[in-house]
Amino acid sequence: EQTAIGIAHSKLILIGEHAVVHGQPAIAIPFPLVGVESVIEYVPGSVKIDSTFYHGPLEHAPAALEGIVSCIKGTLEHLQLPCSDLLIRIKSSIPPGKGLGSSASVAISIIRSLFAYSNDHYSEEELLKLANIAETFAHGAPSGIDTMTITSESPVWYEKEHLIDFINLSDDFHFVVADSGRIGDTRLAVESVAGLLKSAPRRIQKKLDRIGELTYLAKHALEKKGKHILGQMLNEAQKELEALGVSDAGLDRLIHFARKEGALGAKLTGGGNGGCIIALAQNEVHSRQLAEKLRKFGAHAVWPFVLKKQE
Ligand code: MEV
Repeated sequence: EQTAIGIAHSKLILIGEHAVVHGQPAIAIPFPLVGVESVIEYVPGSVKIDSTFYHGPLEHAPAALEGIVSCIKGTLEHLQLPCSDLLIRIKSSIPPGKGLGSSASVAISIIRSLFAYSNDHYSEEELLKLANIAETFAHGAPSGIDTMTITSESPVWYEKEHLIDFINLSDDFHFVVADSGRIGDTRLAVESVAGLLKSAPRRIQKKLDRIGELTYLAKHALEKKGKHILGQMLNEAQKELEALGVSDAGLDRLIHFARKEGALGAKLTGGGNGGCIIALAQNEVHSRQLAEKLRKFGAHAVWPFVLKKQE
């Protein structure tokens, strides 16, 4: 009996979300603490999905899985496999709707498992193209940054739908990610920023440009041991995101608490309006203490983690 496995980790946007949809750069980092595993099995009959959200045939999957369904169909077509005789089991530890790239990770793990099942060799480009089918449903007009970061092992500098560069860290940087508990809708958030840009182009463009500027400064800080500067850039970016209307009371509450508890900087990460914050800690011990404090303060989940200097 044939089976195949595909895995994918998640991602975080360090700085530049939303502005990246409108041509500004962004820095995103792979986040290996949570991820998705897909297992394909040969089971006669129609293609079936087995996941926490849905268990049943592909054709009857709920509208929320529309992107994944299209992505599966697209991948089968690409591999010239019939759309039958498969069971796709999806196991994810990524909370969905929290800005961690859950939709893209699910898509990538499934595509990888289908490629493995067919014994096909695939290029990174094919993988991204197929994954972006799902992202178009999840984000409307995605920048592609999520899929790109989920397939990367290093922090990426992303601009105008292209991975431009990997970032060489000068130092270890310790962060805490904390979940506000509210589910955010990236597609809605992206659409609301696009709406603002249309109604007040000059004012909103200025904010997007400012986020771009802050992203350049953050890159420099990552490359030049500039922990404190990086923290300031995160705080400044949060101000602009608030002005774009993509932060909310739950995120603001965690962000202010993290800063009060010594974070060098803190902001929302990903689509916003719900989801997670990312806080820059002073060092490793502080990241663990801060995570614990955020948890006690009411964060639904916390993840202290380190972005390691490349050897
Ligand atoms: C989502 O992780 C990042 C956004 O900028 C949307 C996108 O780039 O597709 C909000």
